[in-house]
Amino acid sequence: MQVSGQKIVVLGTGGTIAGTSAQAGDNIGYTAAQVGVEQLLNAVPGLQALAGGGLVAEQVAQIDSKDMECEVWRTLALRCAHHLNDPEVRGVVITHGTDTLEETAWFLHEVLDARKPVVLTCAMRPATALTPDGPQNLLDAVAVVLAPGSMGVLAVAAGDVHGARHVQKVHPYRVNAFSSGEAGALGWVEEGTVRWAFNGPVVLENQASGAMNSVVNAAAWPWVEVIMNHAGASGRAVDALAREGVQGLVVACTGNGTIHHDLEAALLRAQTAGVRVVRSTRCAEGQVLPKPGDALPASQGLSPVKARVALILDLLRMD
Ligand code: SIN
Repeated sequence: MQVSGQKIVVLGTGGTIAGTSAQAGDNIGYTAAQVGVEQLLNAVPGLQALAGGGLVAEQVAQIDSKDMECEVWRTLALRCAHHLNDPEVRGVVITHGTDTLEETAWFLHEVLDARKPVVLTCAMRPATALTPDGPQNLLDAVAVVLAPGSMGVLAVAAGDVHGARHVQKVHPYRVNAFSSGEAGALGWVEEGTVRWAFNGPVVLENQASGAMNSVVNAAAWPWVEVIMNHAGASGRAVDALAREGVQGLVVACTGNGTIHHDLEAALLRAQTAGVRVVRSTRCAEGQVLPKPGDALPASQGLSPVKARVALILDLLRMD
Protein backbone atom coordinates (compact mmCIF):
# COMPACT_ATOMS: atom_id res chain seq x y z
CA MET A 1 0.00 0.00 0.00
CA GLN A 2 1.26 3.50 -0.82
CA VAL A 3 0.40 6.68 1.00
CA SER A 4 1.19 10.27 0.11
CA GLY A 5 1.00 13.53 2.00
CA GLN A 6 1.81 11.87 5.31
CA LYS A 7 5.11 11.51 7.04
CA ILE A 8 6.57 8.40 8.63
CA VAL A 9 9.32 9.33 11.05
CA VAL A 10 12.16 6.84 11.58
CA LEU A 11 14.07 7.40 14.81
CA GLY A 12 17.48 5.72 14.91
CA THR A 13 18.97 4.46 18.18
CA GLY A 14 21.71 2.11 16.94
CA GLY A 15 21.85 -1.67 17.40
CA THR A 16 22.96 -4.47 15.09
CA ILE A 17 20.70 -3.15 12.36
CA ALA A 18 23.22 -0.29 12.19
CA GLY A 19 26.21 -2.55 12.89
CA THR A 20 29.24 -3.27 10.70
CA SER A 21 31.90 -5.98 10.68
CA ALA A 22 35.27 -6.03 8.96
CA GLN A 23 34.33 -9.26 7.13
CA ALA A 24 31.05 -9.55 5.30
CA GLY A 25 30.36 -13.08 6.55
CA ASP A 26 30.94 -12.28 10.22
CA ASN A 27 27.62 -12.24 12.06
CA ILE A 28 28.99 -12.08 15.60
CA GLY A 29 32.30 -10.18 15.52
CA TYR A 30 30.76 -6.86 14.50
CA THR A 31 30.33 -3.48 16.16
CA ALA A 32 26.76 -2.33 16.69
CA ALA A 33 25.55 1.22 16.02
CA GLN A 34 27.92 2.37 13.26
CA VAL A 35 25.65 3.37 10.37
CA GLY A 36 23.42 6.44 10.56
CA VAL A 37 19.67 5.95 10.25
CA GLU A 38 19.45 8.04 7.07
CA GLN A 39 22.05 5.82 5.40
CA LEU A 40 20.13 2.72 6.55
CA LEU A 41 16.94 3.98 4.93
CA ASN A 42 18.70 4.92 1.71
CA ALA A 43 20.07 1.38 1.43
CA VAL A 44 16.61 -0.25 1.27
CA PRO A 45 15.22 -0.43 -2.28
CA GLY A 46 11.54 0.47 -2.43
CA LEU A 47 11.33 1.89 1.09
CA GLN A 48 10.72 5.52 0.12
CA ALA A 49 8.23 4.39 -2.51
CA LEU A 50 6.33 2.27 0.02
CA ALA A 51 6.19 5.25 2.37
CA GLY A 52 4.94 7.52 -0.41
CA GLY A 53 8.16 9.55 -0.29
CA GLY A 54 7.37 10.81 3.20
CA LEU A 55 10.11 9.13 5.23
CA VAL A 56 11.88 11.42 7.70
CA ALA A 57 15.01 10.17 9.48
CA GLU A 58 16.19 11.38 12.88
CA GLN A 59 19.12 10.05 14.88
CA VAL A 60 18.10 9.98 18.56
CA ALA A 61 21.01 7.86 19.82
CA GLN A 62 23.71 5.61 18.39
CA ILE A 63 24.28 2.83 20.91
CA ASP A 64 24.50 -0.91 21.40
CA SER A 65 21.21 -1.51 23.22
CA LYS A 66 22.92 -3.44 26.03
CA ASP A 67 23.98 0.06 27.12
CA MET A 68 20.44 1.48 27.06
CA GLU A 69 19.79 4.06 29.79
CA CYS A 70 16.73 5.83 31.18
CA GLU A 71 18.03 9.13 29.78
CA VAL A 72 17.89 7.72 26.23
CA TRP A 73 14.38 6.42 26.94
CA ARG A 74 13.35 9.90 28.04
CA THR A 75 14.73 11.51 24.86
CA LEU A 76 13.11 8.81 22.73
CA ALA A 77 9.73 9.22 24.44
CA LEU A 78 9.85 13.00 23.98
CA ARG A 79 10.72 12.70 20.29
CA CYS A 80 7.95 10.12 19.77
CA ALA A 81 5.41 12.35 21.55
CA HIS A 82 6.53 15.33 19.49
CA HIS A 83 6.08 13.51 16.17
CA LEU A 84 2.87 11.72 17.16
CA ASN A 85 1.33 15.12 17.91
CA ASP A 86 2.06 16.28 14.36
CA PRO A 87 -1.14 15.72 12.33
CA GLU A 88 0.99 15.05 9.25
CA VAL A 89 2.74 12.12 10.88
CA ARG A 90 1.17 8.74 10.22
CA GLY A 91 3.39 6.86 12.64
CA VAL A 92 6.89 6.35 14.01
CA VAL A 93 9.42 3.59 13.35
CA ILE A 94 12.30 3.11 15.79
CA THR A 95 15.44 1.22 14.79
CA HIS A 96 16.80 -0.46 17.94
CA GLY A 97 19.17 -3.16 19.11
CA THR A 98 17.52 -6.49 19.81
CA ASP A 99 18.99 -6.97 23.29
CA THR A 100 16.79 -4.54 25.22
CA LEU A 101 14.14 -3.85 22.59
CA GLU A 102 11.41 -5.36 24.78
CA GLU A 103 12.29 -3.01 27.68
CA THR A 104 12.16 0.07 25.46
CA ALA A 105 8.87 -1.15 23.97
CA TRP A 106 7.35 -1.49 27.45
CA PHE A 107 8.69 1.88 28.58
CA LEU A 108 7.19 3.61 25.54
CA HIS A 109 3.94 1.70 25.93
CA GLU A 110 3.67 2.99 29.48
CA VAL A 111 4.49 6.64 28.80
CA LEU A 112 3.07 7.41 25.33
CA ASP A 113 -0.53 8.03 24.46
CA ALA A 114 0.08 6.19 21.20
CA ARG A 115 -3.08 6.40 19.15
CA LYS A 116 -0.87 6.06 16.11
CA PRO A 117 1.59 3.19 15.55
CA VAL A 118 5.05 3.30 17.11
CA VAL A 119 6.90 0.35 15.60
CA LEU A 120 10.24 -0.85 16.89
CA THR A 121 12.38 -2.87 14.56
CA CYS A 122 15.88 -4.31 14.62
CA ALA A 123 18.18 -6.91 13.09
CA MET A 124 20.12 -9.94 14.22
CA ARG A 125 22.67 -9.61 11.42
CA PRO A 126 24.76 -6.45 10.90
CA ALA A 127 24.29 -4.21 7.88
CA THR A 128 27.45 -5.74 6.36
CA ALA A 129 26.21 -9.36 6.60
CA LEU A 130 25.95 -11.50 3.46
CA THR A 131 22.20 -11.58 4.05
CA PRO A 132 21.28 -8.76 6.45
CA ASP A 133 17.77 -8.96 7.94
CA GLY A 134 17.54 -5.23 8.72
CA PRO A 135 16.33 -4.03 5.27
CA GLN A 136 13.36 -6.42 5.20
CA ASN A 137 12.53 -5.58 8.83
CA LEU A 138 12.52 -1.87 7.94
CA LEU A 139 10.19 -2.48 5.00
CA ASP A 140 7.93 -4.55 7.25
CA ALA A 141 7.92 -1.88 9.98
CA VAL A 142 6.78 0.75 7.47
CA ALA A 143 4.11 -1.68 6.22
CA VAL A 144 2.86 -2.01 9.81
CA VAL A 145 2.70 1.78 10.22
CA LEU A 146 0.60 1.92 7.03
CA ALA A 147 -1.69 -1.01 7.93
CA PRO A 148 -5.28 0.08 8.59
CA GLY A 149 -6.08 0.10 12.31
CA SER A 150 -2.46 -0.11 13.39
CA MET A 151 -1.81 1.71 16.67
CA GLY A 152 0.12 1.53 19.92
CA VAL A 153 3.66 0.34 20.57
CA LEU A 154 4.54 -2.68 18.43
CA ALA A 155 7.65 -4.61 17.49
CA VAL A 156 8.36 -6.14 14.09
CA ALA A 157 11.06 -8.69 13.34
CA ALA A 158 11.35 -11.61 10.91
CA GLY A 159 7.84 -10.96 9.61
CA ASP A 160 6.14 -11.21 13.01
CA VAL A 161 4.28 -8.32 14.64
CA HIS A 162 4.39 -8.34 18.45
CA GLY A 163 2.73 -6.25 21.16
CA ALA A 164 4.79 -4.42 23.79
CA ARG A 165 3.53 -6.49 26.75
CA HIS A 166 4.49 -9.94 25.53
CA VAL A 167 7.39 -9.42 23.13
CA GLN A 168 10.60 -11.03 24.33
CA LYS A 169 13.96 -11.84 22.79
CA VAL A 170 14.19 -15.62 23.11
CA HIS A 171 17.23 -16.52 21.04
CA PRO A 172 20.76 -15.04 21.00
CA TYR A 173 21.58 -15.87 17.36
CA ARG A 174 18.85 -16.95 14.99
CA VAL A 175 17.18 -14.29 12.82
CA ASN A 176 13.73 -15.13 14.17
CA ALA A 177 14.75 -14.17 17.71
CA PHE A 178 11.51 -12.78 19.13
CA SER A 179 8.41 -14.41 20.55
CA SER A 180 5.28 -13.38 22.38
CA GLY A 181 5.14 -16.77 24.10
CA GLU A 182 1.69 -18.15 24.85
CA ALA A 183 0.07 -14.87 23.74
CA GLY A 184 1.36 -15.34 20.21
CA ALA A 185 2.14 -12.73 17.57
CA LEU A 186 -0.43 -10.01 16.85
CA GLY A 187 0.05 -10.52 13.13
CA TRP A 188 2.42 -11.15 10.27
CA VAL A 189 3.81 -9.05 7.43
CA GLU A 190 3.55 -10.87 4.14
CA GLU A 191 4.84 -9.19 0.96
CA GLY A 192 4.12 -5.74 2.40
CA THR A 193 0.67 -6.58 3.73
CA VAL A 194 -0.15 -7.08 7.40
CA ARG A 195 -2.33 -10.05 8.26
CA TRP A 196 -3.58 -9.53 11.81
CA ALA A 197 -4.02 -12.61 13.95
CA PHE A 198 -7.61 -11.55 14.68
CA ASN A 199 -10.18 -10.28 12.21
CA GLY A 200 -10.14 -6.53 11.70
CA PRO A 201 -7.76 -3.91 13.01
CA VAL A 202 -5.69 -4.69 16.02
CA VAL A 203 -7.01 -3.36 19.31
CA LEU A 204 -4.25 -2.73 21.78
CA GLU A 205 -4.03 -2.06 25.46
CA ASN A 206 -2.57 1.35 24.74
CA GLN A 207 -3.73 3.39 27.72
CA ALA A 208 -0.77 5.47 28.76
CA SER A 209 -0.23 5.14 32.47
CA GLY A 210 0.20 8.88 32.90
CA ALA A 211 3.89 8.44 33.52
CA MET A 212 5.03 10.93 30.85
CA ASN A 213 4.92 13.92 33.21
CA SER A 214 7.02 12.18 35.82
CA VAL A 215 9.46 11.05 33.11
CA VAL A 216 9.79 14.61 31.79
CA ASN A 217 10.34 16.02 35.27
CA ALA A 218 12.55 13.25 36.67
CA ALA A 219 15.57 14.80 38.35
CA ALA A 220 17.05 11.37 39.08
CA TRP A 221 15.99 7.88 38.04
CA PRO A 222 15.03 5.46 40.81
CA TRP A 223 17.56 2.70 41.44
CA VAL A 224 15.86 -0.63 40.74
CA GLU A 225 17.70 -3.96 40.40
CA VAL A 226 16.65 -7.41 39.22
CA ILE A 227 17.79 -10.36 41.31
CA MET A 228 17.21 -14.04 40.70
CA ASN A 229 16.17 -16.90 42.91
CA HIS A 230 18.16 -20.07 42.33
CA ALA A 231 19.45 -23.13 44.14
CA GLY A 232 21.68 -21.94 46.95
CA ALA A 233 20.41 -18.34 46.84
CA SER A 234 21.26 -16.21 49.87
CA GLY A 235 20.11 -12.85 51.17
CA ARG A 236 23.55 -11.23 51.13
CA ALA A 237 23.19 -9.36 47.84
CA VAL A 238 19.81 -7.97 48.92
CA ASP A 239 21.13 -6.84 52.31
CA ALA A 240 24.07 -5.13 50.57
CA LEU A 241 21.82 -3.42 48.02
CA ALA A 242 19.47 -2.21 50.77
CA ARG A 243 22.45 -0.80 52.69
CA GLU A 244 23.56 1.02 49.50
CA GLY A 245 20.13 2.65 49.08
CA VAL A 246 18.44 0.58 46.38
CA GLN A 247 14.84 1.76 45.97
CA GLY A 248 13.29 -1.21 44.19
CA LEU A 249 13.97 -4.91 43.70
CA VAL A 250 12.36 -7.20 41.15
CA VAL A 251 12.83 -10.87 41.92
CA ALA A 252 13.02 -13.33 39.03
CA CYS A 253 11.47 -16.04 41.19
CA THR A 254 11.41 -19.76 40.61
CA GLY A 255 8.11 -21.19 39.38
CA ASN A 256 4.98 -19.49 40.69
CA GLY A 257 6.85 -16.81 42.62
CA THR A 258 8.77 -18.99 45.04
CA ILE A 259 11.94 -17.75 46.75
CA HIS A 260 14.68 -19.49 48.77
CA HIS A 261 13.90 -18.87 52.46
CA ASP A 262 17.18 -17.00 53.08
CA LEU A 263 16.61 -14.67 50.12
CA GLU A 264 12.96 -14.23 51.09
CA ALA A 265 13.91 -13.21 54.64
CA ALA A 266 16.27 -10.55 53.25
CA LEU A 267 13.59 -9.29 50.84
CA LEU A 268 11.09 -8.98 53.68
CA ARG A 269 13.69 -7.05 55.70
CA ALA A 270 14.27 -4.75 52.71
CA GLN A 271 10.55 -4.25 52.19
CA THR A 272 10.08 -3.35 55.87
CA ALA A 273 12.90 -0.82 55.47
CA GLY A 274 11.03 0.85 52.57
CA VAL A 275 12.45 -0.88 49.48
CA ARG A 276 9.72 -1.76 46.94
CA VAL A 277 9.86 -5.48 46.14
CA VAL A 278 8.02 -7.15 43.23
CA ARG A 279 7.93 -10.85 42.32
CA SER A 280 8.11 -11.99 38.70
CA THR A 281 9.03 -15.46 37.46
CA ARG A 282 12.13 -16.70 35.71
CA CYS A 283 9.92 -19.17 33.77
CA ALA A 284 9.89 -18.28 30.07
CA GLU A 285 6.09 -18.47 29.89
CA GLY A 286 3.14 -17.89 32.20
CA GLN A 287 3.02 -15.49 35.11
CA VAL A 288 3.06 -15.48 38.91
CA LEU A 289 -0.45 -16.18 40.19
CA PRO A 290 -0.84 -14.22 43.43
CA LYS A 291 -2.54 -15.72 46.50
CA PRO A 292 -4.35 -13.92 49.32
CA GLY A 293 -1.88 -13.10 52.07
CA ASP A 294 1.23 -12.99 49.85
CA ALA A 295 3.82 -10.86 51.65
CA LEU A 296 5.46 -9.70 48.39
CA PRO A 297 3.37 -8.41 45.48
CA ALA A 298 3.45 -10.05 42.03
CA SER A 299 4.35 -8.30 38.76
CA GLN A 300 0.92 -8.61 37.11
CA GLY A 301 2.25 -10.75 34.34
CA LEU A 302 5.30 -8.67 33.47
CA SER A 303 8.63 -10.39 32.88
CA PRO A 304 11.43 -9.43 35.31
CA VAL A 305 12.92 -6.77 33.00
CA LYS A 306 9.53 -5.24 32.18
CA ALA A 307 8.52 -5.35 35.85
CA ARG A 308 11.70 -3.34 36.51
CA VAL A 309 10.59 -0.69 33.99
CA ALA A 310 7.13 -0.59 35.59
CA LEU A 311 8.63 -0.22 39.07
CA ILE A 312 10.92 2.62 37.94
CA LEU A 313 7.88 4.46 36.56
CA ASP A 314 5.86 3.74 39.71
CA LEU A 315 8.61 5.10 41.95
CA LEU A 316 8.90 8.18 39.72
CA ARG A 317 5.17 8.83 40.04
CA MET A 318 5.48 8.69 43.83
CA ASP A 319 8.31 11.24 43.88
C1 SIN B 1 22.08 -4.43 20.38
O1 SIN B 1 21.16 -4.86 21.06
O2 SIN B 1 22.27 -3.21 20.20
C2 SIN B 1 23.06 -5.36 19.78
C3 SIN B 1 22.49 -6.67 19.46
C4 SIN B 1 21.43 -6.63 18.40
O3 SIN B 1 20.92 -5.60 17.99
O4 SIN B 1 21.10 -7.75 17.93
